[in-house]
Amino acid sequence: MKNDCLTDKVAVVTGARRGIGRAVAVTFAGAGADVVVCDIVDGDGGLKETEEAVKKLGSEALALKTDISLRDDVERMALRALEVFGRIDVLVNCAGVWIPGETLVECGDEHWDAVMNTNLKGTFLCCREVGRRMIAQRSGCIINLSSQVGRTPAMGAGAYSTSKAGIIMLTMQMAQEMARYKVRVNALAPGIVKTEFNAGFWKGAELEKQASGMVPLGRLAETEDIARAALFLASDAAGYITGEVIGISGGWSPTSSVAEP
Ligand SMILES: NC(=O)c1ccc[n+]([C@@H]2O[C@H](COP(=O)([O-])OP(=O)(O)OC[C@H]3O[C@@H](n4cnc5c(N)ncnc54)[C@H](O)[C@@H]3O)[C@@H](O)[C@H]2O)c1
Repeated sequence: MKNDCLTDKVAVVTGARRGIGRAVAVTFAGAGADVVVCDIVDGDGGLKETEEAVKKLGSEALALKTDISLRDDVERMALRALEVFGRIDVLVNCAGVWIPGETLVECGDEHWDAVMNTNLKGTFLCCREVGRRMIAQRSGCIINLSSQVGRTPAMGAGAYSTSKAGIIMLTMQMAQEMARYKVRVNALAPGIVKTEFNAGFWKGAELEKQASGMVPLGRLAETEDIARAALFLASDAAGYITGEVIGISGGWSPTSSVAEP
């Protein structure tokens, strides 16, 4: 793909302090976009580093501390982005949390709310707030982060998998509603990506070898694998694609097999 395919575009990326969000922000900047980078955490230098990495590539960047689960924060973020850049062409909803380990009948209200409020409600709030602006512009592209676990249940993924399945329907529903305004809405469903998010699953040579062994393509995903798919969806090359969920899993999917008690 031509690497100037987002020239003159403005992108908002949530969860951009690290991981997939940072890779998306940097990849989009490399393709010419100005990027608003948001995260609930801005105190550890991570968000600043992403902002600087975007600027190094010659794009404009704006870092905004934003908790996507709070409507006021999300409204403030969209207003500020519009104030500075005048438009938002692409929204990539990468912010997400994972609280592993429980079955749904063991899942406490607090865990359920924490996962749902960020993953599903937060993604909805960002889509709604930015989507309204895109409708007014009569153009735009939204990319949501679901997961292979949002398509197939996995032991220990309870509230998380449920939230990611919800993101798939949110994506398809919004795509239907917004197509007439030339706003496209799609989702990515990664498999196992090497980020801090799931470090306990792959960090260390032995663990990574084991985890890679479950993936038909023989390796775990790098954050850039996901960012390149986001770039495709954001570009004109994907101009006729909406309401889709694209798996980026190396062929991996969770099994619902139950470990021996
Ligand atoms: N890593 C994987 O294997 C994997 C697989 C499938 C899907 N995903 C999804 O991809 C997305 C990014 O995951 P990642 O691996 O880069 O994780 P990560 O933990 O490295 O990054 C997530 C970012 O979201 C931010 N965040 C959390 N809650 C927030 C909130 N309320 N408001 C704003 N920001 C918030 C975190 O501070 C963090 O910087 C997530 O939605 C995740 O569910 C990841």
